[in-house]
Amino acid sequence: MIKVGIVGISGYSGYKVISLLLKHPDVRVTYISANSTQGRLDAIWPQFRGQSDLFCETYDLVKAKDLCDVIFLALPHTISMQITPDLLRAGKRVIDLSGDYRLRPASKYQQWYGAVHSDPRNLSRAVYGLPEIFRAKLSKAKLVTNPGCYPTAAILALAPLVSIHSQIVASMIIDAKSGVTGAGKKANVDLIFGEVNENFKAYKVFKHQHAPEIEQYLSHLAEGEVGVTFVAHLLPVNCGILETIYVHLKKRISLEKIHALYQQFYKTEPFVRVYPLGEQPELKNVVGTNFCDLGLTMNPKGQLLVITSVIDNLIKGAAGQAIQNMNIMYGFDEQAGLK
Ligand SMILES: NC(=O)c1ccc[n+]([C@@H]2O[C@H](COP(=O)([O-])OP(=O)(O)OC[C@H]3O[C@@H](n4cnc5c(N)ncnc54)[C@H](OP(=O)(O)O)[C@@H]3O)[C@@H](O)[C@H]2O)c1
Repeated sequence: MIKVGIVGISGYSGYKVISLLLKHPDVRVTYISANSTQGRLDAIWPQFRGQSDLFCETYDLVKAKDLCDVIFLALPHTISMQITPDLLRAGKRVIDLSGDYRLRPASKYQQWYGAVHSDPRNLSRAVYGLPEIFRAKLSKAKLVTNPGCYPTAAILALAPLVSIHSQIVASMIIDAKSGVTGAGKKANVDLIFGEVNENFKAYKVFKHQHAPEIEQYLSHLAEGEVGVTFVAHLLPVNCGILETIYVHLKKRISLEKIHALYQQFYKTEPFVRVYPLGEQPELKNVVGTNFCDLGLTMNPKGQLLVITSVIDNLIKGAAGQAIQNMNIMYGFDEQAGLK
């Protein structure tokens, strides 16, 4: 049994992390904290009545160090990087769900997140927590930077293509749609029911911080520069991301060949499902799970490949993936707590 702490328990991702961890066979949750929220866990989240007597307090480094082996940070960006260095210095392992350690160099963080990076030294230690790509590095990681929700769906959808990217791909457009929990629990007029219900809109066009994240990790995989056009939209649902990705091809390749490439790439992956040709993934098939489902289609002229990718933003896009990473870090069954 390892001892686990969660900071940011009152937020949506923190809620999902503890929901999954309370059922995990190999961990004991020993510490929970938030910012202004304090009190018994079952008063903050009545769903846990009768399941836990944990008490949530303002974050305290000494308690986190004394009570935990590994700490999940489900905090807004800029807050995680204030907390992480002391935890690492104390020999604790950290899984950060925020964007604080995803972009390199630090100047890129400043450009897209609008804040100076206060812990640039640890950027190079952070392992990107996308198990399907970085599993080997995760087992030894001290600091895991959990991917963003949109990047998880996009990178999993495009990673198999990257090996042949320079020969066949002319351009890639990611049309991404997310439910409202993607923006967190904090009050925001744009996210109230009257604004979101029966509405649909694009936001942060060419300003979204997930665009450089997608490009950075696809470029790493391709060992060369990969560019994407990324546009995010707000869906009037609570949870779920659907991305429709248009890949313009400069060279003909059969859909069957591409499908075989994807099947091979994800053959042994427990949480990525490549659909048979002719079938389309849907949100309702993944919401509440740690799966990423992928569908592939080609236009009749053979010039445009359309990939659809769906995940639950709070599970494969956040808490579930973070737990999958923890399972790899500690040598547990990778599906423990996620089945
Ligand atoms: N939501 C998603 O789908 C999703 C997906 C992937 C990644 N993420 C990332 O995960 C992180 C958490 O997201 P979320 O959606 O769960 O956010 P959220 O619902 O807004 O929750 C934020 C949490 O952080 C706590 N907090 C805020 N300021 C703090 C401080 N100074 N010290 C300690 N705790 C503080 C809040 O506590 P109080 O309630 O007490 O203020 C709350 O528990 C973000 O960085 C987000 O980008 C979110």
